[in-house]
Amino acid sequence: MRQSLVMGNWKMNGSRSESQALAQAIVDGLNAGDQGIAVCVPFVYLSDVRGIIESTPVALGAQNVADQEKGAFTGEISAAMLKDCGCTYALVGHSERRTCYGDTDQSVAARFCQAQKQGIVPVLCIGETLEEREQDKTFAVIDEQLNAVIDMAGIEALANSVIAYEPVWAIGTGKTATDEQAQEVHKYIRGLIAEKNQDIADKIQILYGGSVKPDNAKALFAMPDIDGGLIGGASLDAESFLSIYRSV
Ligand code: PGA
Repeated sequence: MRQSLVMGNWKMNGSRSESQALAQAIVDGLNAGDQGIAVCVPFVYLSDVRGIIESTPVALGAQNVADQEKGAFTGEISAAMLKDCGCTYALVGHSERRTCYGDTDQSVAARFCQAQKQGIVPVLCIGETLEEREQDKTFAVIDEQLNAVIDMAGIEALANSVIAYEPVWAIGTGKTATDEQAQEVHKYIRGLIAEKNQDIADKIQILYGGSVKPDNAKALFAMPDIDGGLIGGASLDAESFLSIYRSV
């Protein structure tokens, strides 16, 4: 049985005090024995949130990581810096990074490798746009995005990673993939990995992301290849985030 994981992605939202209050409200809503929960926080508030979630089951994540180790890369944040701030996870290749900031399959693979070098678990985000889905290119896009990482990092590297399938057309749009649509792609992703390493395929957590809300989470998470979720908008409210977490 795979441990499930529900991860909030706060994106570029909130102030310092709001971030602290949100983290505190999540911690306050936990029960004994809870695990498999994380929040991806804006870089500048990582340390504030760490102070609140340290020694609780809530793990800390960043929303991106540099594709270089260190040096003259103004404005970038290295994996070593994230480690220093207490991060367990870092998102790589979120579609907003790919679309708005030019992250390529190559740079995403390099970010994945940098995170792992520092012992941070990369959460590799992959998924097709609406146009690609309508042109029946969903599986081809998944192949390309996943293989770029496997080619650079090696299949074994996936053992210490998480995958998030996020159809771009479902992110922040209120349109969720149906349970069957999501399951179909999750199963495909696991199958691709299984062709190279069955053990890793059986163990890797594959999260679904894209307009997950308290009212649709349960059905999505019930699918056999969906191991939890990456939650954007609904993670900004502790009550709805915890309700989604309780749906696993
Ligand atoms: P959403 O975002 O839940 O607001 O659609 C998900 C994500 O981008 O990770």
